[in-house]
Amino acid sequence: MTHAIRIHSTGGTDVLHWDQIDVGDPGPGQVRLRQTVSGLNYIDIYMRTGVYPVAELPAILGMEAAGVVEAIGADVSDLKVGDRVAYALVLGSYTESRLIDADKLIKLPDTISDQTAAAMMLKGMTAHYLLFRTYPVKAGDTILVYAAAGGVGSMLSQWANHLGATVIGCVGSQKKAEMARANGCQHTILYRDVNIPERVNELTNGEGVDVVYDAVGKATFEASLDSLKPFGMMVSYGNASGQVEAFSPKILAPKGSLYLTRPTLATHTATRELLVDGAEHLIDAVSSGIVSIHVNQAYPLSETAEAHRAMESRETTGATVLMI
Ligand SMILES: NC(=O)c1ccc[n+]([C@@H]2O[C@H](COP(=O)([O-])OP(=O)(O)OC[C@H]3O[C@@H](n4cnc5c(N)ncnc54)[C@H](OP(=O)(O)O)[C@@H]3O)[C@@H](O)[C@H]2O)c1
Repeated sequence: MTHAIRIHSTGGTDVLHWDQIDVGDPGPGQVRLRQTVSGLNYIDIYMRTGVYPVAELPAILGMEAAGVVEAIGADVSDLKVGDRVAYALVLGSYTESRLIDADKLIKLPDTISDQTAAAMMLKGMTAHYLLFRTYPVKAGDTILVYAAAGGVGSMLSQWANHLGATVIGCVGSQKKAEMARANGCQHTILYRDVNIPERVNELTNGEGVDVVYDAVGKATFEASLDSLKPFGMMVSYGNASGQVEAFSPKILAPKGSLYLTRPTLATHTATRELLVDGAEHLIDAVSSGIVSIHVNQAYPLSETAEAHRAMESRETTGATVLMI
């Protein structure tokens, strides 16, 4: 029998149930995966709590994992039983075994362990599209990154540093500030205590930053806009503190003709070409040491509720995985 973590209703961590499920055989275009490690992402919390509704309940949560192909359906030609693979942004990764469309899978090279793959696919491809597609960061840019010791933040900071940017990392504690500096942040701001735009102003000699990558949302949105230089780019890509409230676009004019975007990895992996491009760049960056994947928390899959609690309480750093 296969076990999975499912929700039957939205709510607190108590809605996460260790259920028995039937997986069945793969249909056309599908494979069955024996999963080894699942990633944990903040989006899982939005789904558990109902901020991002899931289409149907009960639902197996989780959006990234690594594993081994154990059965193949019709019309699948480029995978075979025994291949090591990983995926991101396909709902249902909190399970020992699952069916999945073969075109969502990326084959793993020997340089990437299952644990690293499960920790990096969603967060690392997000860092990739933010740095290379949303606002192409170049040497000499100064950028502001929130939750710089967190999952996406730690990968984004390392990669941006490698590109030659000056990285200012906002962090929630002194311990996280030390980690952010080790991740390539030249400056850190303890943003729970410090006025962000004032500190950014001091650090940039009154200029402001070229781009802000803000996934904290409601609590920091205005401070982020006020930290940008004229023509700067505000990238609002998440809402860990709550959703940004409605506002008039005209507020962007007096702040310096700012640009604003609200991107999602869903668009950036919507075609096989985009998915493979992001995954290949990420695998290269990790294999060559440009980006190190720090798995700082690992829980058994059956203890996913405790992992959710820790992430929601801002206790986690780097990536968190669920061992299967
Ligand atoms: N749009 C996309 O394509 C996309 C893709 C992936 C992830 N994301 C977003 O990126 C963000 C980071 O995701 P992640 O999985 O890597 O998580 P994470 O950064 O490891 O964890 C979230 C962090 O957010 C910070 N935070 C600030 N206010 C918070 C609050 N009120 N409650 C909880 N945390 C708060 C905390 O860091 P500090 O203590 O340092 O503040 C916390 O550790 C999330 O908002 C996620 O939704 C977006």
